[in-house]
Amino acid sequence: MRHFLTLADFNKKEILDILKIAKSLKENTKKGVFSTEMQNKTLAMIFEKNSTRTRVSFEVGIKQLGGNALFLSNNDTQLSRGEPIMDTARVISSMVDMIMLRTFEHSRLEEFAKYSKVPVINGLSDSYHPMQLLADYLTMQECNKDKNPIVCYIGDGNNMAHSWLMLASKLGFELRIASPKNYEVDSNILAKAQEFAQDSGAKLILTNDPKEAIKDCDVINTDTWISMGQENEKEKRIKDFKGFCIDESLMQHAKQDSIFLHCLPAYRGYEVSTEVIEGSNSRVFLEAENRLHAQKGVIIWLHQNN
Ligand code: CP
Ligand code: NVA
Repeated sequence: MRHFLTLADFNKKEILDILKIAKSLKENTKKGVFSTEMQNKTLAMIFEKNSTRTRVSFEVGIKQLGGNALFLSNNDTQLSRGEPIMDTARVISSMVDMIMLRTFEHSRLEEFAKYSKVPVINGLSDSYHPMQLLADYLTMQECNKDKNPIVCYIGDGNNMAHSWLMLASKLGFELRIASPKNYEVDSNILAKAQEFAQDSGAKLILTNDPKEAIKDCDVINTDTWISMGQENEKEKRIKDFKGFCIDESLMQHAKQDSIFLHCLPAYRGYEVSTEVIEGSNSRVFLEAENRLHAQKGVIIWLHQNN
């Protein structure tokens, strides 16, 4: 069974195929034309963490494809009371056609997928956020930033940084990641990306210097310094990330027509300044809107390939 847990499990053609579906569904949606491919199908959405974009885009997305969504937060299932994942997965997957799970350790997602009878989608784990990357790349395509781009990610070596590593190493573009010392990407995930990069020709550059990373970049990214589950480290992180805010003076080093992306939610004055996120290079709301179409692309691809 094909699941969608990380881009590591997909080849370049498959990633571009999903994006093609997403692009065509977006064009049709704008014309008011809707597919009925998921008629009578139900997507269960299990959220062990909060969400605005992922929840709304999956729920609206499956409905635009003719199907139904079932929203299950921590308050709604027995998971938060300790029912084993392997039981929950077998029960829910016997009643629905696809499952999206947002959770903590990536191994929870893998275990869920192992016991599920239907495709499972990663709606964010501590290690990866692959759905976001599809929306990000769709945005790059729409902004003509997908031809040999230089992309940088400045910030925490978290699920977003890891997902950028997977996308760049699969598609074969240059990615520079700048993180403060002790907040670098996971070394096992980096090693995996380096292996993929040998095939794709991707150039992966890791540094602790944001200026080095952003120089002449086409696409600039960041993410919160305090991910969900790290709230008690807030004060320390704010100190440790000093100098990593993407502000206008840092943006001066990027290409003039570069685009700024952020998966959101954003914390102005920390990882990004108000001037940059509200400025003329920012495409963050197009990026957020593209979540809707990227989700539909994945739902349809999984439906057709299982
Ligand atoms: N970018 C993203 O996944 O946002 P939510 O946490 O609001 O879903
Ligand atoms: N890195 C963030 C992404 C939020 C969409 C988190 O995991 O909280």
